[in-house]
Amino acid sequence: MENKVLNSILQTVLINKEIQGKAHKAFIDRFHGNLNLLHNLFSHIYSKRVDFDTTFIEIVELIIDSYKERNPSLKKRDLEKEKKGIWFLSHELVGMSLYVDRFAGTLNTMPEKLDYLQELGINLLHLMPLFESPEEASDGGYAVSSYRVVDKRFGTIEELKTLQQSLQEKDMYLMIDIVLNHTSDQHEWAEKARQGDQYFQEFYYLYNDRTIPDQMEAHMPEVFPESSPGSFTYNKEMDKWVMSVFHDYQWDLNFTNPQVLKAMLSTIFFYANIGLDILRIDAPAFIWKQMGTTCQNLPEAHILLQLIKAALEIATPGMAILGEAIVAPRQIMEYFGKGEMVNRECDLAYNATQMALQWDALATSDTRNLLANQEIILQKPLGTTWINYTRCHDDIGLGFEDHYIEKIGYTPYHHREYLKDYLGGRLDTSPSSGDLFAVNPKTNDARISGTLASLCGLEKAIQKQDTSAIETSIDKILLMQANSILLGGVPMIFYGDEFGYTNDYSYLEDPRKNYDNRWMHRPLMDWKKNAKAKQKGTIEYKVFHGLQKIVSIRKKYKVFTDTNNIRWLDSHNRSVVGFKRIGDDEQIFCLFNYSPELQYLTYFVFDSFRKQGKVLFDLWSQKYITIGEDEEHLPFKPYQFYVLLVETKK
Ligand code: GLC
Repeated sequence: MENKVLNSILQTVLINKEIQGKAHKAFIDRFHGNLNLLHNLFSHIYSKRVDFDTTFIEIVELIIDSYKERNPSLKKRDLEKEKKGIWFLSHELVGMSLYVDRFAGTLNTMPEKLDYLQELGINLLHLMPLFESPEEASDGGYAVSSYRVVDKRFGTIEELKTLQQSLQEKDMYLMIDIVLNHTSDQHEWAEKARQGDQYFQEFYYLYNDRTIPDQMEAHMPEVFPESSPGSFTYNKEMDKWVMSVFHDYQWDLNFTNPQVLKAMLSTIFFYANIGLDILRIDAPAFIWKQMGTTCQNLPEAHILLQLIKAALEIATPGMAILGEAIVAPRQIMEYFGKGEMVNRECDLAYNATQMALQWDALATSDTRNLLANQEIILQKPLGTTWINYTRCHDDIGLGFEDHYIEKIGYTPYHHREYLKDYLGGRLDTSPSSGDLFAVNPKTNDARISGTLASLCGLEKAIQKQDTSAIETSIDKILLMQANSILLGGVPMIFYGDEFGYTNDYSYLEDPRKNYDNRWMHRPLMDWKKNAKAKQKGTIEYKVFHGLQKIVSIRKKYKVFTDTNNIRWLDSHNRSVVGFKRIGDDEQIFCLFNYSPELQYLTYFVFDSFRKQGKVLFDLWSQKYITIGEDEEHLPFKPYQFYVLLVETKK
């Protein structure tokens, strides 16, 4: 369609929907500005469909309706955010990811916890899936059976909206998920498909026999090889095979059908109008499938995300999107958009590479792999940002590139075996107590489960009542947190980690969970235990206050805002890794010792600031250090880190 035709269609729809005049000028301008892009992206995918034009107009209408439904206070907030520049780059943002039921009970009791969260410095909440999901087969809420009804376990949509209000009043931000790739097999669409409804059968990938599934499976990696092998499930009622890349009860949505895109876009707007600040797009790498490929990270998946982004940009510009692409390092980068679409896809992505490599460094006391991979991580476009984390509700994958492992002199296979042994509970001599997750005997791949504290050795140290090992594990916890919190990006703390929760094995007693050991690191909060954080000398106190202090350092210094102002340092010591955050008025050196031994750095690490006698202030220990002569050394205790402030103001 020509530009002129497109514009006049838009004009007509705007008039029909009574969106005209000064009050809506900004929206109308945004729409005209993005219309061509929206249309191009839509045609990339659907131009061969006979219903192409009509569906495009339906999408235009959906965008206008969603804008109309957005309440004035959210529209005002959109404008305020725009004035702040790119609000989610701010050093003042610190998040926590939590299950409402396991953390607070219900949505109703959540507001009681906000003061406590603020005390820790948290101002962004990622609430794990809240929408209806069958209790027996829920994948922690990621098998959604109704996108618009809040599960009664948590409360009601009204209560969610009230919580959003309370957050907004406290200048806090809200993030929730859209599970885009699949629905539960109990979703109404799946139900109708089972009953033979053709319209809804086209919402899924269904096959009459194993011919296509066999051909596709030959190239598709298995996500849950132990609990749900393969990527297709036989359904007796339909006598068909349905694509189910994750669990057999999670049916993949078929985005080659534009009605699926429309339905999901409409859900996204429904969430945006609850007042979300960030929408976490679950598993975006999987949303497009093609025979003969891994069915992950395909160009069409990116186009769909860009299309969603463009639509949001028009109607609900204050809501940013986070792509949960836990894929190979170079492929993660593509979710920020590439080429002419750079910065026009996801605003945020998980820094899964950094996270996994911090665990690599902790297990090996060798930070070279972590450092080498920065070559990729640093390519993040200006204006986008990371979610930085040490643990989340999922497992830790070891999917980083082989060639960096080879470059530092290890064999990739043996290196990963070592990491699995060390972190995955297969080595008695390791302080870590994690477990292997999703072991695939065909490929020998496995991922790792376990809480931050257990993986850092706290669980074993407590069992052995070894006070010195307890202290070491706390040092490791804080080292891991400091490294990720002080990087560029939004830190996302996983609930329970602020008190040092160790693995919870009670999931083994629950048949709805015992096939999935990720439940070992999804604790049920015990607020009596948490109260120990108020008693000096307890583990909870040390972990909580340590974390609180790291968070407060980040929030105090503007230099931690993510303007791609990070420079990794050459420490000349493989156990110590560090970076400099560079600002106008201040620079901060962050240095981390990943080894259980004392380490030393020469003062060369401070490059241009290496003036003998110059004094730097360690924001962590609150002590001054004086730069010595070149042959002198800066000492590190085991797992010690420094956050060294250099004032550059004249
Ligand atoms: C995402 C979620 C994970 C879930 C999967 C399937 O990766 O983080 O918990 O199992 O998607 O929805």
